[in-house]
This record gives sequence, C-alpha cells and structure tokens, in this order.
Amino acid sequence: MKPRIRINRFLACSGLGSRRKCEELIRRGTVTLNGVIVERLSIEVDPETDEVKVDGQRVAPSSKSIVLVINKPAGVLSTVTDSHGRRTVIDIAGEQGYRDRLFPVGRLDLDTTGILILTNDGNLAYRLTHPGFKVEKTYHVSVENEVTDKSVTALESGIRKGSFETQPCKVRILKRRKNRTELEVVLKEGKKRQVRRMFAILGYRVAALHRKALGNLEFNDLNIGDIRPLTVKEENRLRELTGLI
Ligand code: URA
Repeated sequence: MKPRIRINRFLACSGLGSRRKCEELIRRGTVTLNGVIVERLSIEVDPETDEVKVDGQRVAPSSKSIVLVINKPAGVLSTVTDSHGRRTVIDIAGEQGYRDRLFPVGRLDLDTTGILILTNDGNLAYRLTHPGFKVEKTYHVSVENEVTDKSVTALESGIRKGSFETQPCKVRILKRRKNRTELEVVLKEGKKRQVRRMFAILGYRVAALHRKALGNLEFNDLNIGDIRPLTVKEENRLRELTGLI
C-alpha cells in the first residue's frame, strides 16, 4: 500500500502547479476529497482509494512520467496556452507528436532561448523550480556595454533593490569589449526575469539570454526549436539532483 500524502503534494504531483499554488486552490474551496470540500491544508490523501476533484474534475498523479527537453526559440511562450493565441512550447511539443498533458518547468521569457523541461510530473517540476532544492541553472548572457569587475562582484554577492533580492551566484566573464560583454551566470533560484533585472539594476541592458544547462545537463545535441525525451540517464540525473532518488 502507498503511504498517505498531504493534499497539496497530491495536487502538485497531479500537475496542478507548485504546492503553494495548490494550497491556494484549496483555500478557494475548489478541491473536494470524496465529495467533501477540503478545508484543512493538513489533510492527507490515500492515492490508491481516495477521490480528489478540482472544480469537479477528477485529478490523480500521473502513473507514467514523461520528461522532455526543448531548446526554446525566441518568440515562443513558455506557458501551456495563450489567451492571445501566441505560439507556446506546448504547441511545439504537440506539433512534434507529444500530445500528453505536459507543462513547462518554470519560465523563460519570450525572448530567452535555451533549455526548458516539459513534463507531466508535478513533483519533479516542483523540485526543479523550488529554490530549496538549489538546482543550478546556467545562462549565457550578452550584455550591451562593458561590464566592470565591480559589477561582477556585486552580481555574485547578491543584488538587492526594494523587494527584489537575489542569492549569491557564480558569474564568469567569457569575453569583454567596450560595447559588448559575454558572461556565464549560474543561479540556484529562478525569480521572474531575474537575470535581466539583476543587470538592469546595475545599469546594463541584456541583449540576449540563453539557458545552456540545468545542473550538469547541457543537451548539446539540441538545435534551437528541437525537442526530445530525456534519456534514462539524464532523467535519473535530474531525479538525483532533486532528491527523488
Ligand atoms: N532570467 C531572466 O531574466 N529571464 C529568463 O528567461 C530566465 C532567467
């Protein structure tokens, strides 16, 4: 028999978003357990026998986990759908024959390119994006102007402006000229537009941003727009990084 699990974890594993987002669904009264509205966040669920519904639709953790990686092109949204009909990474997955109920793990801005995981595994997604699991994301950043050593030190120590605060990170200058600097930035968190905002606060504009690795996984075989399932080795590596195995 599988152990009982907290309702928020059950919902996250069913692909409904982070545990925090799932708690919000519970607070809004949209979740029922065996026909009764769930009011306590601490309630536990038996995944084998209990019936959980969100807005009247039965939900359950997917038994077969699918994990794909896309090298996201610029101009494509990293969301499931878009109310304005713009192209999303899930549209690309569908065009390439992956029609499962997938969602992107975290977000890359419209103009950002690079590595993005698509999965139906809510638990893996949650762990890859939660800063507590400290999964490294490596970015190649092209900045207009010459980035000074002082700015590199400031970026590495953590940036603070109003409520925007970043943890210490690794920064390496790859190439530096008067009108352009290429850098590698390794973050263990993923705040909205984090890289662009960190540089903007120091007075720089990011001209191009590409995510080139997750943990030590680089997916070098993927051209922009390519998508493929992770190999067993890669998937196990991601599960190790997030403490799932
Ligand atoms: N940081 C950003 O500013 N944008 C991204 O897309 C990813 C990280």
